[in-house]
Amino acid sequence: MELLRFFHEKRIIIENTLRDIFVSFGSTPGVLRDAMEYMLFSNGKRIRPILAIAACEAKGKPSDDLLPIACALEMIHTYSLIHDDLPSLDNDDIRRGRPTCHKVFGDAVAILAGDALLTEAFRIIVDDRYTYRISPRLIRQSVYEIATAAGADGMVGGQVMDVLYDGKDGTKNILHYIHMHKTTALIRASVRVGAIIAGAKARELKHFTKYGECIGLAFQIMDDILDAEGDEELVGKRLKKDTGKQTYIKHYGIAASKIKLEQLIEEAVKSIDFLGENSTILKEIARFIGNRSV
Ligand code: IPE
Ligand code: IPE
Ligand code: MG
Ligand code: MG
Ligand code: MG
Repeated sequence: MELLRFFHEKRIIIENTLRDIFVSFGSTPGVLRDAMEYMLFSNGKRIRPILAIAACEAKGKPSDDLLPIACALEMIHTYSLIHDDLPSLDNDDIRRGRPTCHKVFGDAVAILAGDALLTEAFRIIVDDRYTYRISPRLIRQSVYEIATAAGADGMVGGQVMDVLYDGKDGTKNILHYIHMHKTTALIRASVRVGAIIAGAKARELKHFTKYGECIGLAFQIMDDILDAEGDEELVGKRLKKDTGKQTYIKHYGIAASKIKLEQLIEEAVKSIDFLGENSTILKEIARFIGNRSV
């Protein structure tokens, strides 16, 4: 199967690059390095770096130069998971099939490991040792893109609303805000950064943006569906925990959520038709997001 091979190959490349990056933490205090490593090298799907790579290659450019930026996206995502699992946020004890970072290293080290992953991600992007082949203009654009997606008006804003509205009635508008920010923003930025590094023009970028937006929202709707009816072994985290949360299931019910998910995948697929034959992998990734059980 073409997509499975693509996932397999890219995961190996991403993990090798992350390993290379990790060498630069040689003099980091051992426990901090261990905590970062523990969560970064666990069994993640690597969907954000894979999307960046796939978008870049779909534009016809090899993704080698992009790899450190793709890894930075995974580092930021990993920090968000470590913090999301803390007792003062979702209070989870299993992530990626094993005890959460704070369960193993304690809250203080887990918070700081998240801080370090977030900060170092931006260092990697601007570190000439890794990204010397990318022009300063594109580096600046990538940093802006990723910082905006991860920051106060992006993922962190979404996380704050998610926590504030836990146990509250909420509205469909609030649900939409949460899902578009806590999850969609970074997924959309991953697609966009891949396209930007490949030299996509404004008109093309609009289509990549639409694709990223549709699969990003679909990704979180599926996350809500999996919480309601997934298999804990496959998903690698505790399920049926979203009872107080603003989820698609709560506001639309399971059947309508699944229909919305399908519509988003169709929309995503259509939005990249302009890529012709080069759209195959991105379309398959969209369909994977619509069907995933992991
Ligand atoms: C989980 O993300 C958190 C959400 C934004 C829904 P993933 O489902 O991508 O988690 P990993 O990286 O594969 O563990
Ligand atoms: C998390 O959403 C989004 C993040 C920014 C980490 P969830 O809280 O639903 O993610 P899971 O279900 O714990 O992976
Ligand atoms: Mg959460
Ligand atoms: Mg959570
Ligand atoms: Mg969830």
